[in-house]
Amino acid sequence: MFVYVSYSAARMYDHKRANARKGSEARSRTIKSACSGESLGSDSCPSAGQMAAKRVCIIGSGNWGSAIAKIVGANAAKSNTFESTVNMWVFEEMVNGRKLTELINTEHENVKYLPGHTLPPNVVAVPELLDAVKDADILIFVIPHQFVSRVCDTIKGHIKPDALGMSLIKGVDEGPDGLKLISDVIREKLGIVMTVLMGANLANEVAEEKFCETTIGCKSKAHGPLLKELMQTQNFRVTVVEEADVVEICGALKNIVAVGAGFCDGLNFGDNTKAAVIRLGLMEMIAFARFFCTASPVSPATFLESCGVADLITTCYGGRNRKIGEAFARTGKVGFFSVLCVVRLL
Ligand SMILES: NC(=O)c1ccc[n+]([C@@H]2O[C@H](COP(=O)([O-])OP(=O)(O)OC[C@H]3O[C@@H](n4cnc5c(N)ncnc54)[C@H](O)[C@@H]3O)[C@@H](O)[C@H]2O)c1
Repeated sequence: MFVYVSYSAARMYDHKRANARKGSEARSRTIKSACSGESLGSDSCPSAGQMAAKRVCIIGSGNWGSAIAKIVGANAAKSNTFESTVNMWVFEEMVNGRKLTELINTEHENVKYLPGHTLPPNVVAVPELLDAVKDADILIFVIPHQFVSRVCDTIKGHIKPDALGMSLIKGVDEGPDGLKLISDVIREKLGIVMTVLMGANLANEVAEEKFCETTIGCKSKAHGPLLKELMQTQNFRVTVVEEADVVEICGALKNIVAVGAGFCDGLNFGDNTKAAVIRLGLMEMIAFARFFCTASPVSPATFLESCGVADLITTCYGGRNRKIGEAFARTGKVGFFSVLCVVRLL
């Protein structure tokens, strides 16, 4: 109940803010981004007169979804390009006897997945998926990949046909036809234009506002500035590249290398050997990307972005796959099956 009260209040706040702005905005508003796209799911650049504030929905509210909600909520609140209210779909669960959505909307903290961090009050936790995505212009997918198909099947036909999607999900889908990028799964199911965001971005450090970089992969030049405006902060620096498939496959492959780096740690092989594993792993990532990403060029420069070498390094030192590799090598108690599961899930 409270969720919806809070939700409506936030919408009213948007409405009032929009009315208050109308007069001066019409005169003084400039296009902040080179092209913010009224019809987002196309490559066209509309004129300034066609611009309307974009509604953003974050699908997912785990560790990374909540960290990204901090950024997106703060940016949306201070920009005319976006509606202030940002919906965040929360898979409802009970935490300490209370609904997680209720906790987020009252305490403005995701006490389960990102404790200790305040979310902007304009980020509204919505338990019903269809309510969350309704009328959204930008859909940010940030759920564990095993839930992607079900989420897409649920929202199919209930989203704007010209919505723009952005996947923050790391991993690849494995089906009868082999491996498939998660963004392709979403694109095929929903028929929307997809972009990706990947980088050396451990969620807790991003939430702590420690400096890092990230990479947006966006095949159409038209959408890059809009997404950069939504995501970039002083401490979260965005680079936009066109080789979106390469950006995305890097986010999956680095986890395999990280398991190898973890083996090195567990076997006390030393820093030189670990560096060699990381370097050779990067070469393997490039070779695989050239084999797998056949629809677009695969430039070495993309691997020098945050999505490439930086994400590889951070995962080989701080990531969960490194840890499980180390634990397996040290104890032999972690089944190899578990290792494979983690590689697929993260
Ligand atoms: N955590 C990070 O540092 C980080 C960084 C970059 C990318 N990512 C990627 O972001 C994605 C999300 O990771 P995370 O760390 O936010 O997740 P998480 O492990 O913190 O949270 C899991 C999420 O799944 C939800 N969930 C549980 N059961 C569900 C169901 N049946 N249907 C739908 N949702 C359900 C939970 O509510 C929770 O929001 C992953 O693909 C991950 O690889 C994570």
